[in-house]
Amino acid sequence: MPKIVKADAANIRKAASIIRDGGVVAFPTETVYGLGCDTFNERAALEVYRIKRRPSSNPLIAHVLDIPMAKRVVIGWDVRCQKLAEAFWPGPLTLVLPRRAEVAPSSIGGRSTVAVRSPSHQVARQLLEATGSPISAPSANRTGRISPTKAEHVVEEFSDEPDLMVLEGGTSHVGLESTVLDLSRARPMVLRPGAITKDMLSPIVGEVADPLFAGQGSSPGTSSRHYAPRTRTEMVDTANIERRLQSCPDPVVVLASRAEIVPPPHVAIVMPSEAKEYAAKLYESLRQADSLDRNLILIERPANKGGVWEAVHDRLRRASA
Ligand code: TXA
Ligand code: MG
Repeated sequence: MPKIVKADAANIRKAASIIRDGGVVAFPTETVYGLGCDTFNERAALEVYRIKRRPSSNPLIAHVLDIPMAKRVVIGWDVRCQKLAEAFWPGPLTLVLPRRAEVAPSSIGGRSTVAVRSPSHQVARQLLEATGSPISAPSANRTGRISPTKAEHVVEEFSDEPDLMVLEGGTSHVGLESTVLDLSRARPMVLRPGAITKDMLSPIVGEVADPLFAGQGSSPGTSSRHYAPRTRTEMVDTANIERRLQSCPDPVVVLASRAEIVPPPHVAIVMPSEAKEYAAKLYESLRQADSLDRNLILIERPANKGGVWEAVHDRLRRASA
């Protein structure tokens, strides 16, 4: 089993030296936990892909402490980038820009662009500070599975990696992966919606294009089935829940707005009514539902009122694809 360690000064130093020596460490961010390695180390990146069982074409995000560190990773840092970083960094916004030659090609699937973001979680920041250089990291889950929002989730994912160190950082309070904004094309495009919404971005970058939904296209990690429980998962409208449950021969789990609409022996996991709270609870709830080991998870479709609900709906669609 991987080891969860307290993020005290000694362990942060140890984690930083593992990364500097070409190793891999799991660490918390405000969005989800990440599986980190040195951005400039080719072999370290390959190790991340091996542990995660990630297709080599799907690029990693380079995590940076601040703007000067971002400039060691990307080129073409213009006034838009400056304004975006000043408005939203540190925080859940990732920018895709042309890369510097030093970035390990294996960490970005050989692309000419690289994604960068500056996390706000204090443990991530201390780790970046101690390492002194950018840390490339995907979410610390096996490919296609639910992203981890607690150190224990990382252990569940990588139970066969006894040497993996996991820095303890509590619950990731955003709970959904960062917004990925591609600035490398003619018109800025959100490749993955997140807590930083289009409405927050457009005052700075102008009109923001929607993703192409090109499957394995521009952002390979956004393939349609993703963030998925092992159990079959289905979305259902509130009006149809009663009927759907009547047609289930065995007890199922329902992520629902209210426990009352889920009669026993079915099990309800009650979800918050506000988007941010829903987002923060979603992955843990899916894990909990999965662990109950029923043959179906139903998700009551929340109303899509825009804003952060866009990101929630994106993940719900993928979880149930
Ligand atoms: O919140 C997050 O972003 C978390 C934490 C750990 O920072 N990280 C994360 O990484 O979600 P990952 O690898 O699970 O997702 C990164 C996403 C993928 O959809 C990937 O395809 C996209 O970002 N991406 C990375 N580099 C890209 C690039 N150069 N061009 C287009 N998409 C890119
Ligand atoms: Mg991921």
